[in-house]
Amino acid sequence: MRTHEAGWAHAEGARGPSWLREPDDVNTLVPQLWSSTARKNDDGALEVGGVDLRDLVAEHGSPAYVLDEADFRGRARAFKEAFEGYDVYYAGKAFLCTTVARWVVEEGLCLDVCSAGELTVALRAGVDPARIGYHGNNKTVPELRRAVEAGVGRIVVDSFGEIERLAELAAGHDAPVGVMVRVTAGVEAHTHEYIATAHEDQKFGFSISSGDAFEAVRRVQEAPGLDLRGLHSHIGSQIFDTSGFEVATRRVLTLHARVSDELGVEMPELDLGGGFGIAYTTQDDPSDPAQLATELTKIVEHECRAFEVAVPTLSIEPGRAIVGPAMCTVYEVGTVKQVGLDAGAVRTYVSVDGGMSDNIRTALYDADYSCTLASRRSEAAPLLGRVVGKHCEAGDIVVKDEFVPSDIAPGDLLAVPGTGAYCRSMASNYNHALRPPVVAVADGVTTLVLRRETEDDLLATDVGA
Ligand code: LLP
Repeated sequence: MRTHEAGWAHAEGARGPSWLREPDDVNTLVPQLWSSTARKNDDGALEVGGVDLRDLVAEHGSPAYVLDEADFRGRARAFKEAFEGYDVYYAGKAFLCTTVARWVVEEGLCLDVCSAGELTVALRAGVDPARIGYHGNNKTVPELRRAVEAGVGRIVVDSFGEIERLAELAAGHDAPVGVMVRVTAGVEAHTHEYIATAHEDQKFGFSISSGDAFEAVRRVQEAPGLDLRGLHSHIGSQIFDTSGFEVATRRVLTLHARVSDELGVEMPELDLGGGFGIAYTTQDDPSDPAQLATELTKIVEHECRAFEVAVPTLSIEPGRAIVGPAMCTVYEVGTVKQVGLDAGAVRTYVSVDGGMSDNIRTALYDADYSCTLASRRSEAAPLLGRVVGKHCEAGDIVVKDEFVPSDIAPGDLLAVPGTGAYCRSMASNYNHALRPPVVAVADGVTTLVLRRETEDDLLATDVGA
């Protein structure tokens, strides 16, 4: 194997993606990737919420999700303040447990659920059903019945069949059922770009351009037990390019105005969905909620004036932007292996005690993450490494490319920031892995909010002889 004159770790081809910069000091955190209370302490260990992660692992084991309560609450509050006058629905699909549902309520937010399971958690946490929105493109009759009986504030309808089913259920219910109509505005938004199209080939909502959305509104309006609250639009997730929201908002308001004009109904609400992006690595530059709020409100007010309709009560549904940066995952390193690549390059594989079962996003979406050594300071030079899990699959990657200290060794703790959204909520038992606990930290105190699964949990569903 040919090696680079500066050593194997510097061989060509092992420099990682062009955006990744070699740090001057591997011990420093990139603040915008971490929750607000994260810092390296005098020993060089990572502290979150005043808790040294070495102590957290000693108490709760590894891997573990570490949830920074002050950061979560701070982001929830920031959205509430930035979107003043809006209802802010926290999207529980990003991460939900009873503790977080209570924080959401305490911070004055509403809650968006999209399954019977999420509704159960919300109700168990004591969330006022009137402040819950219920989504889903294929809600079953029992699910709808349960939502109606629980008094869920708004059910977001997604198909003509569902409108019929809900109308039947509502007929046997005392109070009218609040309904939003999910529409597709012909805007597909991806992280740094958006595409405006006439048609959208996807399973959600009613198309505005085909006329289905107008027809859905008409049917909800006509159903005696249904209370038409307004339109709902959600254009995608991890979005930085806010022009997608602007285009969608204009299109949705055109329909809102048409309903007023042709059906004589001024719908009182309008939901613009979630999808606000966060920084996973230094490539990402999320927009400021306050700026986004100002822009969206301006568009709504302008369009409403032009169409001569009253400005509806607006709402949004951020999930990732509230919980994503509030959590990190701490792992223990088990194996370090150098693997020869073409042209003499070498890649260092750092294996940790979790992987695609606790974070599927790298394998599923080719997502980028970063990490830092969490248990000590290192004076060693940076080395480009790849952090992988312990599952029986080559694609079981946690962090594709990151500079780690070249003395990284078994027993070290590594922490990955930005794992609050869609990691625990999409975790699996692949290879019969036990899903890690979620440990909340604040003011130097740890609180277990979801415990680690046990082998008894795994076997509880195994009813074979
Ligand atoms: N509202 C609706 C109707 C949604 O479908 C979603 C996300 C949200 C709000 C919240 O979006 P957020 O603010 O969290 O981006 N598993 C993927 C993301 C799927 C998003 C699904 N819907 C990921 O890990 O990137």
